[in-house]
Amino acid sequence: MMNSSRFGVLFFVLSLIWDETKVGSAQNNNMRNYITVDDLVIYSPWIRVRGVERRIQDKVIVVDKNGRGDSLTVQGAVDMVPQQNTHRVKIQILPGIYSEKVHVPASKPYISFIGDPKLASQTVITGHDKASDRDINGGLIGTWNSSSVIVEADYFCASYITFQNTVVEPYGGLEGYQAVALRISGDKAVFHKVRFLGSQDTLLDESGSHLFYRCFIQGATDFIFGNAKSLYQECAISVVGPAFAIAAHHRNSENEDTGFSFVNCKVTGNGSVFLGRAWGRYSRIIYAYTEFNINVTVGGWQDWGSTSSDNTVVFGEYQCRGIGANRSGRVPYSKELNHIEATPYLGRKFINEEQWLRF
Ligand SMILES: *[C@@H]1O[C@H](CO)[C@@H](O)[C@H](O)[C@H]1NC(C)=O
Ligand SMILES: *[C@@H]1O[C@H](CO)[C@@H](O)[C@H](O)[C@H]1NC(C)=O
Ligand SMILES: *[C@@H]1O[C@H](CO)[C@@H](O)[C@H](O)[C@H]1NC(C)=O
Ligand SMILES: *[C@@H]1O[C@H](CO)[C@@H](O)[C@H](O)[C@H]1NC(C)=O
Repeated sequence: MMNSSRFGVLFFVLSLIWDETKVGSAQNNNMRNYITVDDLVIYSPWIRVRGVERRIQDKVIVVDKNGRGDSLTVQGAVDMVPQQNTHRVKIQILPGIYSEKVHVPASKPYISFIGDPKLASQTVITGHDKASDRDINGGLIGTWNSSSVIVEADYFCASYITFQNTVVEPYGGLEGYQAVALRISGDKAVFHKVRFLGSQDTLLDESGSHLFYRCFIQGATDFIFGNAKSLYQECAISVVGPAFAIAAHHRNSENEDTGFSFVNCKVTGNGSVFLGRAWGRYSRIIYAYTEFNINVTVGGWQDWGSTSSDNTVVFGEYQCRGIGANRSGRVPYSKELNHIEATPYLGRKFINEEQWLRF
């Protein structure tokens, strides 16, 4: 016999399956070329049908380091996803410290890493490689390969988990101590309530369009860097240790439609710190409606020692507040934007949401 609440769950599940079918057939293949909030949550994956526990969603792979899931490691779960995957596969990661390198290759799009909404800080994928370390062949690992987690696939999602690199830079940026927690070069990704922990070069937001929504990002030097086009919305940015700069954007030509936009964020921690610097000549970094509860280094922004970039960088601030928002003493190549200038950066339109987000 089915009681009514169980019937409710079953009905909910069937309607989800029905939804997927409709979308699939509408597109004439089963690929769903957008990300929705469904891709970031696990709907109770077990159901009792006639007294038997059954998986209601065969697209969930459970990672449990204590052995009660489908895989002991996160990489083991990624390996179970077929090449050229065309459906969303949710990898549910149970709380624990997963000390491993994880690689999501370009051939495996539509993967979600999902933790427990209440235990993001206890669900950690961690590494401790730094740029000056040697790989097994004796070669330098380098910044790019230091990353604990590497995502090269499109349509990646993550929620309620922590990506960490435990290396701590000795002071304000030192060659060899670059140590990335997550690198993403896949296009179209959403990170929701994800924590990024590191020191120098925490988050390599390398390329593609990405949404970071209500995330926590910690570091000391250039800790949000790369050439992606990303919106950081309502994120907490935490500056630790002897810090140097928050963001380093790598746009190198005016033809590149890339940039970092921070909207409604909160910056706290140990100053003083530069808001951003020009890793590329056309570096583009905007802060809007952001609270700087931190001392900002005189000048506020840096051209990386190349004055020829001063006419080409786009460093903007719009309606920020807090002690660090006082623009007196800012370098002349940074700008207080007016409303019209700020508008393109203020919402998800910046990352072309109409093409891939229903969130
Ligand atoms: C990163 O590591 C891979 C695999 O070991 C290697 O083939 C590649 O050359 C490395 N890339 C860089 C930039 O060091
Ligand atoms: C803050 O940064 C200074 C150097 O800029 C360093 O000496 C100090 O230890 C840092 N404090 C904390 C709490 O990280
Ligand atoms: C900013 O700097 C001043 C002067 O050094 C210091 O007193 C204050 O505590 C700093 N504020 C923050 C939020 O670090
Ligand atoms: C901004 O800083 C300047 C220089 O320290 C100071 O004179 C000015 O009063 C500050 N403005 C605000 C609004 O705090």
